[in-house]
Amino acid sequence: MYNIAVIGCGVIGVTTALEIQKKYGGIAKVTIVADKFSPKTTSDIAAGLWEPYLLAENDEEDVIRWSKATFDFILKLWKEGKAKDAGICLQPAVNLFNCKNYNTPKWVSVTLGYNELGVRHLESLSKQYNQSFTGGFMFMGFTWEPILFLPHLQKQFLRNGGTIIEKHVQRFNELEDFDVIVNCTGLEARNLSCDRSIVPIRGQVIRVYAPWQYITYLIQCDDDEDACYVIPNRDSVILGGTKQQSFDTTINKNDTDRILKNTSKINYALAKCKKISEVVGLRPSRYRVRLEDEYIETNSGKILGIVHNYGHGGAGITLAIGCAKDASNLVENVLKIKYSKL
Ligand SMILES: Cc1cc2nc3c(=O)[nH]c(=O)nc-3n(C[C@H](O)[C@H](O)[C@H](O)COP(=O)(O)OP(=O)(O)OC[C@H]3O[C@@H](n4cnc5c(N)ncnc54)[C@H](O)[C@@H]3O)c2cc1C
Ligand SMILES: *[C@@H]1O[C@H](CO)[C@@H](O)[C@H](O)[C@H]1NC(C)=O
Ligand SMILES: *[C@@H]1O[C@H](CO)[C@@H](O)[C@H](O)[C@H]1NC(C)=O
Ligand SMILES: *[C@@H]1O[C@H](CO)[C@@H](O)[C@H](O)[C@H]1NC(C)=O
Ligand SMILES: *[C@@H]1O[C@H](CO)[C@@H](O)[C@H](O)[C@H]1NC(C)=O
Ligand SMILES: *[C@@H]1O[C@H](CO)[C@@H](O)[C@H](O)[C@H]1NC(C)=O
Repeated sequence: MYNIAVIGCGVIGVTTALEIQKKYGGIAKVTIVADKFSPKTTSDIAAGLWEPYLLAENDEEDVIRWSKATFDFILKLWKEGKAKDAGICLQPAVNLFNCKNYNTPKWVSVTLGYNELGVRHLESLSKQYNQSFTGGFMFMGFTWEPILFLPHLQKQFLRNGGTIIEKHVQRFNELEDFDVIVNCTGLEARNLSCDRSIVPIRGQVIRVYAPWQYITYLIQCDDDEDACYVIPNRDSVILGGTKQQSFDTTINKNDTDRILKNTSKINYALAKCKKISEVVGLRPSRYRVRLEDEYIETNSGKILGIVHNYGHGGAGITLAIGCAKDASNLVENVLKIKYSKL
């Protein structure tokens, strides 16, 4: 029986833990160790929109493979009639760009059909938003809401025989009795692994009550600060957003004003709706998702096998299932390497 620890219980930790259970069935005991759980993780702040977003230098082929695995996973649940419990909504997403060098991203091929917006459509939207859009597309996709699905996935993990421990891990050595340690610590990997390439990208969002809004709009610009979005969830609509490199989790009044002003161009009623909440989350951003195995020798001479799975930036929900599959394959690597040496 292998003993596998997963550090982290956000979307990345839970999906990875489930994928490992699936792969190793009866021959592995999986334990999740985390100091924060739903609804208190960064994942819980996310709208859960399926869309590869803020992914820096990740290889386009990887992004497509990871996000496709998640899309297919969500679509399957939806077709099985499990959307309500799984926190899934099917919805159209309109993407508009006012970048000088606009190119449609290749990942649109993963979605349920997409259409480029025509010149006349772009002209009329440009007028409406007082922008000069250079391109845009529309596709049918999903929101998969972490605050709704995380508790369900945790229960599923426990039903499969998993164990959950609430604990802050200061050093990997504390887990040296495990055969493999999987590092799904998000932004905290910065402290735990001294990985300075992971940085916080601050996201401030407002949730309002607007059940009549059911289309996602995302407007992206050359100047990052100008981006704005409206994303309907089941019980609220998310208005955003910001993407500053900062650790500041307090609400900034200027950001609030800009978000309301920008999103009210999409529909002026949005800014007048009942506000449900306003929060700031820090996206665990890295030039590239870190998905790799590593071997560390402890003071006592023991070799720890670690699989890293962190740094998903603005798309942790979108990439979760694909990355979880890759991480579980890396676990297999670690076990092979560790036990071939015995
Ligand atoms: C405003 C906002 C909106 C977003 N919207 C979307 C969206 O629509 N779609 C999308 O795909 N993505 C979105 N994201 C991005 C997404 O939220 C993240 O990429 C994702 O949540 C990262 O998940 P994670 O599991 O790595 O991290 P987290 O959710 O932060 O989980 C980390 C886990 O690790 C644990 N942990 C960390 N350090 C330790 C330690 N030392 N000891 C024990 N436990 C530890 C924590 O307790 C926690 O359980 C959004 C982000 C923000 C801020
Ligand atoms: C439209 O944008 C221009 C510059 O981008 C600005 O000068 C003008 O005031 C804006 N008009 C409105 C109605 O917001
Ligand atoms: C991580 O390190 C920063 C800076 O040293 C500190 O402010 C923060 O509290 C640490 N986070 C955790 C969870 O320990
Ligand atoms: C997670 O990975 C980072 C980067 O290597 C490391 O510094 C940190 O110690 C790891 N966390 C744990 C709990 O091992
Ligand atoms: C958002 O507001 C800022 C400041 O008023 C403006 O510069 C920017 O163009 C707006 N963005 C969108 C997409 O409307
Ligand atoms: C808001 O913007 C004004 C003008 O740029 C600035 O003086 C003020 O400090 C800002 N407030 C916050 C909370 O950032």
